[in-house]
Order: sequence, then structure tokens, then C-alpha cells
Amino acid sequence: MVRKFVYGKPLETEAVLTAFEECEEELPFLLYEKHSEVSPDTDSFSLPTELGFSEKNPLFTYSMKPDDIIYGLGEAVRGINKRGWRYISFCADDPDHTESKFSLYGAHNFLMILGEVSFGLFFDFPGAVLFDIGASDYDRLFIRPSGNDLTVYVIERESPLEIVREFRNMTGRSYLPPRWAFGFQQSRWGYQSADDVRQIVQEYRNNHIPLDSVYLDIDYMTNYKDFTIDKHKFPAFPSFVTEMKKDHIRLVPIIDAGVKIEDGYDVYEEGIAGNYFCKRKDGSDFVAGVWPGITHFPDFLNKDARKWFGGLYARLLSKGIEGFWNDMNEPAIFYSEEGVKNAWDRLSAFDETSLDVEGFFQLTGIFTQLSSQPADYARFYHRVGRKNIRHDKVHNLYGYNMTRAASEAFDRYSPKKRILLFSRSSYIGMHRYGGIWTGDNHSWWSHLLLNIKMMPSLNMCGFLYSGADIGGFGSDTTQDLLLRWLAFGLFTPLMRNHSAIGTRNQECFRFGHIESFRNLINLRYRLLPFLYSEFMKAALTDSMYFRTLLFDYPQDSHAIHVEDQLLLGDSLMLAPVYEQNAVGRYVYLPEDMLLLRFLAPASSIPEGENSLSLQDGAVISTKYCTAGHHYLPVALDEVIVFLRKGHLLLLCAPAEAEELLNTEELDLVAVLDDAKQARGSFYVDDGFCKDPNLEENLVQIQLESAADGSVFVHAGNTCTYHEHVFSL
Ligand code: NOJ
Repeated sequence: MVRKFVYGKPLETEAVLTAFEECEEELPFLLYEKHSEVSPDTDSFSLPTELGFSEKNPLFTYSMKPDDIIYGLGEAVRGINKRGWRYISFCADDPDHTESKFSLYGAHNFLMILGEVSFGLFFDFPGAVLFDIGASDYDRLFIRPSGNDLTVYVIERESPLEIVREFRNMTGRSYLPPRWAFGFQQSRWGYQSADDVRQIVQEYRNNHIPLDSVYLDIDYMTNYKDFTIDKHKFPAFPSFVTEMKKDHIRLVPIIDAGVKIEDGYDVYEEGIAGNYFCKRKDGSDFVAGVWPGITHFPDFLNKDARKWFGGLYARLLSKGIEGFWNDMNEPAIFYSEEGVKNAWDRLSAFDETSLDVEGFFQLTGIFTQLSSQPADYARFYHRVGRKNIRHDKVHNLYGYNMTRAASEAFDRYSPKKRILLFSRSSYIGMHRYGGIWTGDNHSWWSHLLLNIKMMPSLNMCGFLYSGADIGGFGSDTTQDLLLRWLAFGLFTPLMRNHSAIGTRNQECFRFGHIESFRNLINLRYRLLPFLYSEFMKAALTDSMYFRTLLFDYPQDSHAIHVEDQLLLGDSLMLAPVYEQNAVGRYVYLPEDMLLLRFLAPASSIPEGENSLSLQDGAVISTKYCTAGHHYLPVALDEVIVFLRKGHLLLLCAPAEAEELLNTEELDLVAVLDDAKQARGSFYVDDGFCKDPNLEENLVQIQLESAADGSVFVHAGNTCTYHEHVFSL
């Protein structure tokens, strides 16, 4: 059951697609206090008034039971259970994702309270929202929006997965990428020219490490101007795109939110002529400094501006481009004209003769605190219908609507073929239009773990096509970190190695032990048809691709607290290694499972494990593992996964690009359950159709063991299966 509670006159965010009747009764479970003078933010936490919060805003309170687990909030720091910290939904361009932070790039106001009483909550509010989940008081949940007009949805269903499904059903089907976007992707801020890109591709091909796409960061543009291509660095761009495609490589250019102010630049001039930019209160166009220098922000909340900006992507589509990433769309503001002027004024007013320590910090702060300031977000307005709305009140909808602009244009310009699209900033609802990547992480082991923890939380909120910058964006990576990160990243739908200019080069061929990298990326391609199938099934049934163990083993008092192992689809459990110097890890098995160890080619089968030869001659090792705790060694170039009882896994032979995979001949590894059966389904489509039919594309596979021990495979398609059947 879903109950909808409306307070004041909320702005339509279009996050929820289902029309629910408004409830008149009291909000269940939560205590709602209108204009609460009581602040939960006792001694240690102050109310961030600079983001518009006031004690005059309503406060929602819930008393958490000692064992309650709180899931949700999508892109956020810390654990999967959000209890113990406070989070602020206010899309932020913050490149330091440390535990002390409150906000990242997305605003995903969906929570699940899981305990004796379980329910889901969605706070549909486009401005800042504070979630204090046991930070001020470990037993209390406080939620405070920074305004009085909002809609709250309370979702009650019989299980955590059903709560997620209901939420996803009401917010719409998740974005579907093309299948090639499940290939391995290489990116770096700093590829300066077509020759740089050629060289990257050549190195991958020479080293026989599979690759499907290369990203173009801001350097491909002329002076960072959206929808331009620097002719000197990338001469004859359309033929370059074709040349790359012949080598099975797609180029994926970046698009930034800000449009450079420059006479003669047609995008800028069209924006001015159409009145498509965000305005100041006095009606002039707001000016912000971002990569191109001074820019205007397109008013993505205005549908005409959205249509105009979306149409610009056609310039690149017509040159053969099939994928984009939308960046800087919180929007990031390095500085505003007003902010700089204030800083100069403060500097001139500064009395240097009385400089003391306090004055020193004030002085240095004048120019270091110019970026993405709340004051700047209150300086510009959107035109929505007949109203002017101040940006900070709807801040969290900006990146969402930029991505929507692109997606709606793709429906016009590419009605039959899916286009790859993902964004940095997002709000619930944007998951219908594109995926997200998790922004500027660092080459830190803690960020590999954060990547693991964020994935199921993003899935709850509908963001299925997602992934982190593998290897880390900021700071210098190391070979061991990159290998371990790839070993997890090869399961994330978006598998992209990306790094910042000025950091150590981190393409896979830059390191020794090429065969280790090749082996890991090959494994991604072995798994690709299976992962794509699990992804599509999750997307088309409003389900989750990555889940915590709690979803499937709710009665297991140990499993429900595990945060470093994930279930993938119905069949697999992952147990990634994420610690420096670790030579293995402890794994908890809630039931008996089959260990599959994907070995490096030169490795020998560990003692106590058995070898299994795949159709292409590759050897993996297997072992029955009983329920409980196990310590398992995992070498730097190995990957372990667990296959669940009664389920199956499909593997194909690797190839150097997605379109070269032979998906007609598959290894089928199955573990029979107690009834001597295993079943699964395999989703297959052309990899780009926009409105796929689940029923038509789903192949049912069933294995049964006869009395004499022989196993029959019934599959609804004509693939050749090489079976490897295990009974636990
Ligand atoms: C910020 C993005 O998060 C990053 O991925 C990109 O490389 C830089 N902007 C430069 O465009």
C-alpha cells in the first residue's frame, strides 16, 4: 500500500508517475510537527541555515528500535545501513567523498526503515532535505525539509524487496543502456587529440585487453564550448568516429551544464535569442565561472529550454556518436560575478594592520570559499510555467532535467536505438532518463569499499546503470588497487576506468602484469551476456541488480548486517577484496554455495578445490562451501564468486569487444537444489531496442536430474550449452 501526504502546495517534480489519492488521515509511524521549534540538532550539530533550513520548517520524527536498519539515500557516504550519521540532500560538486561529508552529487530522498515495523518513505521535495538518522540521537530519525511544501509517500509492503519494487513502480522504469555499454570503457581527463585516443585504443588492442569505448572529456571541445569539436585536435571528426567504430570502439563525449558566453558562438547566441538561460532577480542572465570561463546556465526546468538544449545533442548524434555523459550539472559554480565582487569588497575592507590569527583565517577564506556557495544558488531563477522559482528551492532538479532534456531529444532523434547516457547530478525520477556515475572519487582503498556499498543503495532508488571511476579519479592509483577495483568493477553495469588530469596514467596497459589485467577484463566479457541479462531483468521488473544479503536472507541474524558482500541477480553472491595487502578475505555464507574461482591463467588449482574446464580451454576452480564463515585466499589477479543452490550461471568465451562475442555457445554452470533441480532465465535481445518485451525475450532454462543421475537441460532457445552441473 502507498499513502500520499501533501503539505502546503508542492511543486511538481515529476519524480512519481502514479497518481495517488491524497490521504487525509495522520501520517502513520512518523510524528509530523508543523513549524517545530524543537531542533534535533543538539550540542554537536547545528542547523545548516545557509541551505535554507529553519526551525520554522516541519520536522518528521520516528523512534527507531535498537535493531532497526535504515536503508536508502542512494548516492551517499558511509554504510549501507545509514544509521548513525546525518545526510543532506543537496546536490554537491564535492571531490572529497570523506565520511565527514553530508552531501554528494545526487539527491535520493528514499529511505526504508526495516525492523519490527518496516516501511519505505519518499520525501518528494526539490530543495535541501536534512536526514538525521541517529546522529543527534542514535534512537531517533529526524527529517527536516528546507521548506513547507512537500509530498511524503509511505510505502508498506510485505518485504524489503517489495517496498523497493513498489517505489520503483511508482517512479517509473529505470533507464536502459545499449548492450555495448556493458563492455569495458576507458576514460581520462587529458586525452587531447584524436591521436591520443588512437594510441589508447592501439595499446588495448596490441595487448589484447578487450575495450568497447573511449571517453572524450572537455578537451575535445573548442575552448570547452558545449557541442563544438576542436578541429585542430580532432580533424574530420565524423570519419574519426567511423574509424573507431570499425575497430569496435564507440567514443563518448562529455557535455557540461554551463554554456560559454562568447559572441559568435551559436549555442550561446541561440540561448540568448530564445531566452533559455537562468535569470537573476532583475531579469539579466546569471553568470557563473566554470571550465569554459564565464557561462550562462540553461534553464532545464523550463520545457522550451529543455527542448532547445536537448536538440543540440543531435549535432553529435549526426556525427555517429551514440553515448554521452552529462557533467557539472549540480550545477557546479567555481565562482559567480557577485561572489567575486563581494570577496574584493571584503578584501578592501580588511584592516591588515590588525592582522591576528582569527583575521588570518578570515583573510585566506575570502578567496578559497567562492565555489558552489549557497548564496550563489539563491541568485538565479527558473521559469516554470508562469512562475519564477529561485534556484535553491529546486536545486536538486537541475541535473535531473539536463539529463531529461537529452533523453527526450534521443526519443526524437534516435527513436529506435538506445543511446548511452549518464549524469553526475541526479534526483529520483532521473533514473528513467539515464544512469549515473559516482563522481570524483579518489584512488583510495576506502573508495573501493564505498563503491561496493553505494551500488545496492543506488539500485533501491532506481539507478541501475551506474558505476564508479575504477582505479579512482583523484590521486595516483597503484597496480594492486586497480586490480582489486577492476575485480569488483567487472560486475558493475558501468565499468569505466577514469582519472583526473595530472594524476598517474591508469590505463590497464600502463602496468606490468598485463596478463592479470587482461584476465580480469576478459572475465567481464565472459560474463557480459549474463550480466546484461540480469540487468535487463532487474530493470524490466523494477527489481535490483545488486542486493544486500538482507533482501534474500531476512531471517539470518548475521546476514542482515553484512555490508561487504553483495548478491547479484538471482544466482550470484560477490565477496570482493577491498583491503590493501589482503591476500584473501572472510566470507559469510548464509547457505551452502559453490565457490567459483576465476584464476589467472598461470595459477594452479588451490588445494581442496577442483578444476573445471570451460569451452574455450580456460580453467576455473570450484569448491563446495557449507553455510557459515570461511576464510578464502584470493590472489591479486583472481576473482571469487559464489553460485547459489538451484541457480545457474552462463559464461561465453571472451572477445575484444562486445559485438564480437559469440553468445550462441555458452558454458552453463548450475548447482542443483535439494530437489535435484536448477532453474534460471536468460534475457536476450538485439542490445539496442528501446521498448523491449520481457516475456518475449526471456529464455527459461531448467535442469533436472533423473534417477540414474543424468541431467536434462530444457532451454527455450537454440544456444549450445556446455553443462557443468553440481549437487551440493
Ligand atoms: C568533473 C567530472 O566529475 C570529471 O569526471 C571530469 O573529468 C572533470 N569534471 C573534467 O571534465
